[in-house]
Amino acid sequence: MTAEPPRGGRARVAVLISGRGSNMAALVYAAKARECPFEIVLVASNDPEAQGLELARAEGIATFAHSHKGLKRAEFDAILDGEIRKAGAEFVALAGYMRLLSPEFVAGWHGKMLNIHPSLLPKYKGLHTHERALDAGDTHGGCSVHIVTAELDDGPVLGQTEVAILPGDTPDTLAARVLIAEHQLYSRVLAEYVGRV
Ligand code: GRF
Repeated sequence: MTAEPPRGGRARVAVLISGRGSNMAALVYAAKARECPFEIVLVASNDPEAQGLELARAEGIATFAHSHKGLKRAEFDAILDGEIRKAGAEFVALAGYMRLLSPEFVAGWHGKMLNIHPSLLPKYKGLHTHERALDAGDTHGGCSVHIVTAELDDGPVLGQTEVAILPGDTPDTLAARVLIAEHQLYSRVLAEYVGRV
């Protein structure tokens, strides 16, 4: 395998989080490979207490945190948008970002914003995905990376990983295994995507 840095520099990516940030961490670690075609230039959160911010800071990545409380959605998103553009980001990766985005924000990043969702879309948009897969008697759960559009969890799917459901799985045990798949899927799909748009 060659380990050349990408020609023409790396694509600059901002990651938005609201909590733990394990998918953000997976992207940060993937970007440490010499041949990775993207770099993480900003980690931003709508929750100044988000656990992932500390990890990003320790990795030397610029962070921005601002509570959305008391602000209209479009107002908050305009602040966020300004920070992302100031950081020179060309792409946005949502990684456990738990706020609905305003139509203006989504339009401004059309085709340049990805999300990871813990189900095999189009199944189980929204919350409680693992519980819903188990209740339905599905043989597999999984995760999807998709382009963000105005509709929640609805844009074109770029990649998916199926994860077999085991007898005795609970939403938590299934979520833990799907998370392993998420961490691999997101960096792979993002790398492919920034290379072709
Ligand atoms: C992940 O399961 C992701 O798919 C979903 O929210 C969770 C965030 O986890 N959108 P983390 O913050 O990346 O650890």
